[in-house]
Amino acid sequence: MRDDIRAWLDAESGLPDQPLRGEFYVDAGIFAAEMRDVLGRQWLYADHVSRIPRPGDYFLFEVGGESIIVVRRKDGTIGAYFNVCRHRGSRICLDRQGSLSSFVCPYHAWTYDLDGALRGAAHMPDDFERRDAGLMPCHVRELEGLIFLCLAEGEAPDFDALAEIARPYLALNGLAPARLAARRSYPTSANWKLVVDNFQECYHCAPAHKLYSSAHSKDKLLAFGAGPGSGPVDAAERFSGELATWRERASAAGTWLDARAEEEDDIRSIWSVGRLPIKAGALTESVDGAPVSRLMGRFAEFDGGHSAVAFNVFSYFLASNDHVVMIRFTPRGVLETDVEFQWFVHPEAEEDVDYEVERLVRVWDVTTTEDKRITEDNQAGVASSRYRPGRFSALEGRLSTIKRWYLHEMATASVPSHEELGA
Ligand code: FES
Ligand SMILES: [Fe+2]
Repeated sequence: MRDDIRAWLDAESGLPDQPLRGEFYVDAGIFAAEMRDVLGRQWLYADHVSRIPRPGDYFLFEVGGESIIVVRRKDGTIGAYFNVCRHRGSRICLDRQGSLSSFVCPYHAWTYDLDGALRGAAHMPDDFERRDAGLMPCHVRELEGLIFLCLAEGEAPDFDALAEIARPYLALNGLAPARLAARRSYPTSANWKLVVDNFQECYHCAPAHKLYSSAHSKDKLLAFGAGPGSGPVDAAERFSGELATWRERASAAGTWLDARAEEEDDIRSIWSVGRLPIKAGALTESVDGAPVSRLMGRFAEFDGGHSAVAFNVFSYFLASNDHVVMIRFTPRGVLETDVEFQWFVHPEAEEDVDYEVERLVRVWDVTTTEDKRITEDNQAGVASSRYRPGRFSALEGRLSTIKRWYLHEMATASVPSHEELGA
């Protein structure tokens, strides 16, 4: 890591209550370090298993400069491989999704099985060992129909502890067999940290998101707008009556689940889970609170609750009783972040009978279009010579926590840089 970056990281650790200095949002060297030390150590939500139902079905997951092939193998399991030929390094799969019986490199036609093994390589010397030239694997895990990838070069961080905490929230909605009803992209010309910070505070909800603010309880947005611990204590107190009434109702229906987040002393990971009421009278997260599809999973009736799981800062699950929203923030470059939303419904829900796509996606489609604009405006400002970090408000508590986590990950880089190796 460059010495100036190290000095900036040191200085920032003494400034927990304010955003990062401008270089963190524009510097290519910082982005390269983040790809390895921050992104490379996360379990990122890639897609739902229904995207690759048959052997040979694959899609590409692209993050930073990396491209990962995620494929349904012949034995029905899911494999993930770096999309890099073991001959001279060409990309192998060029289409973003498809169905194949083997992977054939377009350059010199080396051919790989669906399990990554090199099967064919013409005109190679006699002492060439095919078994040493299989595709580089990427860590992959499944949870209730969700596919997660970790790009770590060595061992991946633990997946199971958070998976078990998150599982009940996902299972309540029957996510594994759920059906994708819509997928929309909002590519955002901003550094990923601005995209993440914007999603982790609701200070901007009132000024920037009229529709979102009208769909949710006002007191809840102040107290828990960006998850447990995101608002001040007095707001949580004001919301406690509404919360207690709903908790009683959900408990009676067997659908109440606790709200929790990472512990103060475990800053290695950022996560949260919770179920909260939407707002008085609302059955689902929609423009008017009225259902947008049929009940999913274990819900026998509408309980007015909304589940949220933040697996990390990049991967989120949000769910009403009748639909699930999966959200992916994927850094692609210093100033480019892919933002993808997916809406899932009951596996037997029929379009235009049980749901209309525009009604289903409305709240988050409008909100995310607004978020794209405010985040891009934020990027333009932090790139200015006159940007000076301000101060976090009482509604931006999560941003201090995330900053602490980010600085910790950057400071505990697991892999030495070229300079450090003396290269
Ligand atoms: S680079 Fe793939 S076969 Fe040559
Ligand atoms: Fe927002």
